Amino acid sequence: MKIVTILGTRPEIIKLSPIIPLIDKEFDHILIHTGQHYSYNMDKIFFEELGLRNCDYSLNVGSGTHSMQTGKMMIEIENVLLNENPDWVIVQGDTNSTLAGAITASKLNIKIAHVEAGCRSFDKKMPEEINRILVDHCSDILFAPDENAVKNLAAEGIQKEAIHLVGNTSVDACLRIMDLFNLNRLTELNLEKENYILLTIHRQENTEYNKLKEIIKAVNQISNRIKVVFPLHLRTKKIIEDNNIEISENILQIDPVGYKEFIWLLKNSKFVMTDSGGIQEESAILNVPCLILRDNTEWEYLVNMGKTQLVGTNYKNIISSVSDLLNNNWKLEKMKNIKAPLKKNASKKIVNILMQYQ
Ligand code: UD1
Ligand code: UDP
Repeated sequence: MKIVTILGTRPEIIKLSPIIPLIDKEFDHILIHTGQHYSYNMDKIFFEELGLRNCDYSLNVGSGTHSMQTGKMMIEIENVLLNENPDWVIVQGDTNSTLAGAITASKLNIKIAHVEAGCRSFDKKMPEEINRILVDHCSDILFAPDENAVKNLAAEGIQKEAIHLVGNTSVDACLRIMDLFNLNRLTELNLEKENYILLTIHRQENTEYNKLKEIIKAVNQISNRIKVVFPLHLRTKKIIEDNNIEISENILQIDPVGYKEFIWLLKNSKFVMTDSGGIQEESAILNVPCLILRDNTEWEYLVNMGKTQLVGTNYKNIISSVSDLLNNNWKLEKMKNIKAPLKKNASKKIVNILMQYQ
């Protein structure tokens, strides 16, 4: 059986990292990188840290408008798929690379397996939500991370036999990188354990100028009380620089960091504020309280069980939610002590299931 795996962005590289070596071992396996992320610290650093092999095809598509980027990827992916003629295409998550991979495979009648299927934020204004829905509806195997995802797929009429509840591959990736820890960035960055907040912002809707300005105004205020560490996604960095958005000097702005360093910063933080999907999972894995800078999330069950908290992006709400956590240590402890049902070995389960389709 021949499999082509397609990836293109930071979270796809990280979440597919535990699966790629397993597929290499069992199948004839071709790896395509669309080039959606291309800067060293958004891309190659993860291959190095996670010991991933080189991709067989690098499509170098780069940045652009959604349609231009997705369209270019489709044209390039089609060439590779016609050349390689695989039995299956694997895609992960909800990015434009995921969408381009799935649609192109579907047009060529190649079977598709979707890792992290069934997640829904129910917010169709997010490009990721449309990508998830479209990819799920052209996939032949749907690897769901949790019961909610299974329910979402069933509610949309996806055949039960195609859905497999396997868990989150982010658990495997995260545990593996923790084995490789050998860092002491706390001293280098002049940070004290559990005495800083980690912050990430990169969503399209949160990096619109007025929205970003409002979020940063709130964080500037918060940073008068506690240090904030802010690894800047390159989208966010560009918008801050282009618009001269003022950031308090109590906020430590750093370039995007590697996975090892990020997990280290997360593990040692007091709590994290983020709009990232992957970081919500990781905060639950590492029992770090997480305030979500969004009005909705595809990891809703973590919110429902009190493990993470939806805060939105409004100045007042951000300030009051953060103050609440800083003033009431017991609330932080309560969030830490809730156990999320995140289990390891999703990656092995995925590969075992793929073997049954041979
Ligand atoms: C993409 C995904 C998003 C995911 C995120 C992970 C889509 C629609 N969005 O968003 O779901 O959460 O990746 O990080 O697929 N840039 C660089 N170097 C890079 C990559 C990006 O400078 O290596 C800058 C460019 O200015 C680019 C901008 O970031 O225009 C946005 O990049 P893009 O890949 O379009 O979207 P992300 O915000 O990264
Ligand atoms: N991450 C990283 N360095 C950073 C910020 C994030 O390695 O500076 C990792 C993080 O641990 C998680 C993934 O990148 O595994 C999340 O990616 P991102 O937030 O860009 O995308 P999303 O998960 O929201 O799609």
